[in-house]
Amino acid sequence: MSAATSPHPSRAASPTPGREFSTESYFNTQRPPARLEVQTEAMRSFVQKWDGKRRVVLVTSGGTTVPLESNTVRFLDNFSAGTRGATSAEYFLSAGYAVVFMHRLHSLRPFSRHYSHSLNPFLDLLTISGDSVVATPEQAKHLLPVLRAYNRAHDEGTMLSIDFQTVNDYLWLLRAAGQVMAPLERRGMFYLAAAVSDFFLPDDKVAEHKIQSAKGSLHLEMDQVPKVLRPLVQEWTPEGYIVSFKLETDDNFLIPKARAALARYGHQLVIGNELHTRKYRVVFVERAITPPASGKEGYFTGGVRGLVDKRITGAMTPPLRGAQTPGGGAYEETWLELDQLNGGDKEKEIEEYIIGELVARHEAWIAAKK
Ligand code: PMT
Repeated sequence: MSAATSPHPSRAASPTPGREFSTESYFNTQRPPARLEVQTEAMRSFVQKWDGKRRVVLVTSGGTTVPLESNTVRFLDNFSAGTRGATSAEYFLSAGYAVVFMHRLHSLRPFSRHYSHSLNPFLDLLTISGDSVVATPEQAKHLLPVLRAYNRAHDEGTMLSIDFQTVNDYLWLLRAAGQVMAPLERRGMFYLAAAVSDFFLPDDKVAEHKIQSAKGSLHLEMDQVPKVLRPLVQEWTPEGYIVSFKLETDDNFLIPKARAALARYGHQLVIGNELHTRKYRVVFVERAITPPASGKEGYFTGGVRGLVDKRITGAMTPPLRGAQTPGGGAYEETWLELDQLNGGDKEKEIEEYIIGELVARHEAWIAAKK
């Protein structure tokens, strides 16, 4: 469908075919989601409520879809169930953060994730006792701490859930969240664990009605989604502590790709994870702050540092926020491996250690401004 036959003729035309959208041209040409204003206001009042009382983190979680039709029957999706985001949100809450949990609709949620219908159906936890239903003693032991933490978050109002479905919803909401959290300055953290589509169909290429199979094979030309990390870091929330994730299916790409992202976007930290081992090991890649001569301790305090494998490589460059750090800058890599950290406790989750490390780094980031 050409721009002339766009289903949204009132909107400005998108860039030329085979095109690359800048962030600006994306937001000038693509329709905002219907609930954007309501969701933005909810985020604004949540952030204002907690400003000065708790640190606030935005956790993004789950995969984004790319609809093929505006009356959507079919869409492209990705593998993410939202485990990383939902699990991390729980640990941020227990570390005293207020959490904006921006998640894919129907993906895993903090607390209820322990009882997903496929892995641990809740009816299996229950037993009938006379006219009542109770949890079996074995199940109650597991359920109690989860329920306590869930009730605490609910009673204190420390978590706000904001849902998205499409990559377009995600981009508009991320921009809104960045702007709403900007007044927090360094007290705001961004933990971008969602799996965001790299390709999309702009409004003027999306069929209005269900694509008919009678027409034979389907050919799609998708456009590239603009990388919104750059404006997030440089315009929307220039002081926030920003953590992005890098997913690869080959470990060897993790560190070079993470370094390239730091150099390109100028944010604080990339957490690298490989698809099949992501629940057991991750690597933190960040710019080295202290000269190697002063030891390999990095600039932060606390956390689980003594148990992780940390390496500082490359020549030193100052840790300039937003700077176009050349490829030769000094980077620090910290591997977190669950079986080295958990002391043999199989119930432990890697997110507990990830969040422990992040809280220490975030504290140092705030303290460095004073
Ligand atoms: O949910 P789980 O099953 O537990 O899986 C967790 C996970 C593997 C999805 C998660 O740990 C993870 O790695 N998430 C990021 C995956 C991803 O989308 O990587 P990417 O290379 O496409 O993007 C890298 C970063 O750029 C992301 O932090 C993303 O927020 C950001 N991005 C992506 C696309 C885009 N247009 N703009 C962006 O800024």
